[in-house]
Amino acid sequence: MNTFDRIIGYSSIKKELMQISDTLKNREAYEKLGVSAPRGLLLYGEPGLGKSLMASAVIADSGLRYFLLRKDRPNGDFVKEIKTVFKEAKENAPAIVYLDDMDKFANGDERHPDAEEYVTVQSCIDEVKKEAVFVLATANNIRCLPRSLLRAGRLDRKIKVEPPHGRDAEEIVAYYVRSKKFARDIDVKAVAHLMDGCSCAELETVINEAGLYAGYERAEQITLEHFMAAYLRTVMNEPASEDDFGEDLSSEEEIRRQVVWHEAGHAVVSEVLCPGSVTLVSARSGAGRGGFTNYYNDRTRSGLYWRKSRIIGSLGGIAATEQKFGLVEEGGSRDLDAAFRAVRNSVTEDCACGLHLHSGGYEDSQRLVAEQEQAISSEVEKYFRKAKEILALNAEFLEKLAAALSEKSLLSAVDIERIRSECKIVSVAI
Ligand SMILES: Nc1ncnc2c1ncn2[C@@H]1O[C@H](COP(=O)(O)OP(=O)(O)OP(=O)(O)O)[C@@H](O)[C@H]1O
Ligand SMILES: [Mg+2]
Repeated sequence: MNTFDRIIGYSSIKKELMQISDTLKNREAYEKLGVSAPRGLLLYGEPGLGKSLMASAVIADSGLRYFLLRKDRPNGDFVKEIKTVFKEAKENAPAIVYLDDMDKFANGDERHPDAEEYVTVQSCIDEVKKEAVFVLATANNIRCLPRSLLRAGRLDRKIKVEPPHGRDAEEIVAYYVRSKKFARDIDVKAVAHLMDGCSCAELETVINEAGLYAGYERAEQITLEHFMAAYLRTVMNEPASEDDFGEDLSSEEEIRRQVVWHEAGHAVVSEVLCPGSVTLVSARSGAGRGGFTNYYNDRTRSGLYWRKSRIIGSLGGIAATEQKFGLVEEGGSRDLDAAFRAVRNSVTEDCACGLHLHSGGYEDSQRLVAEQEQAISSEVEKYFRKAKEILALNAEFLEKLAAALSEKSLLSAVDIERIRSECKIVSVAI
């Protein structure tokens, strides 16, 4: 088994890492061509995305001795340790100096470009310039690091590790699911879409947590329901089970009905405009909790279409409660704020209503601001009408989705797909 096989997905990063490792294993081949191999590599990105895993795969594949530096002692001692580690690597060259979590070498996450630790790392890198010492670093926040450290000749290769998306996320989910007793019909794609934007570490935790719920119930298999409960608990920070209704049953019921229709409105508008985009709808009852709808952008549509659909979708909640109960809800202001923010951006920055309303980077005149505000509210109004049109034309879908949500409180992408396939969907141009 290739050491890079431990990294699931991320094929283009893996390819780049293999090439770098090849320059470490076969220096002569490159020297013969008169080229100099990269001197250092920095892997950076959010926590839990596999940077340390990738770094250790490069080390293992290269077969070189490595010297690890991770901050675990007070500043003065640590600076001494940096010098010792580079000295040892030089004496044992060819070798790798592995600087794990380098952005934590100086105090916390603040910007400390002049910190003694970074100055020391930089001078040590320069000292081993002529030696076969490769510097491999990982970091979350590269803004903490001095720019001079990142320039060519020092950490000259930089790879940004993003949260897994699309095929990568599916491969990671499939990998974790394979080693556990999941129900055979578990939809890996639905799970991956639901967890879009989450790190591999979160994926691993949620899948394991789902197994714990199943174990606690003494279930034979882990189901999508267990997974959704684990997702809500771990990622959305919601309790795993619904609270009982409080004392005031009738008002709780009333609120819940509104939440159900509101979330069904978001989901239906989004599904009509972008089929397959809703990954989870929740309308769970209990103290202080409303519902929410999660979305997944498969990036096959144009960015502009997706942005417009999201604005109309965000107004779908209030459009549905207005259509069903004839009222403007109190809880709709967050959606309205989101819609106004998105429209303001498209009017003032992206020229959605013509060049004359572009902010142009200068302080805006009162006249321009007034014209922008007018354009923004008529745009939001237009999108709100579109949301209502979509719901009116797809009343059957809305009714069925609201009924299912009322019964189950949580609908997965699989549930939504089933309901959608049972209804006649009328598409609407936007
Ligand atoms: N692509 C991947 N394939 C398989 N497992 C992965 C992948 N990415 C991360 N993991 C697993 O997720 C966990 C976290 O990975 P790792 O420690 O490498 O993340 P990191 O980016 O270094 O995080 P931090 O910034 O917090 O140091 C580990 O258990 C690791 O094995
Ligand atoms: Mg790490």
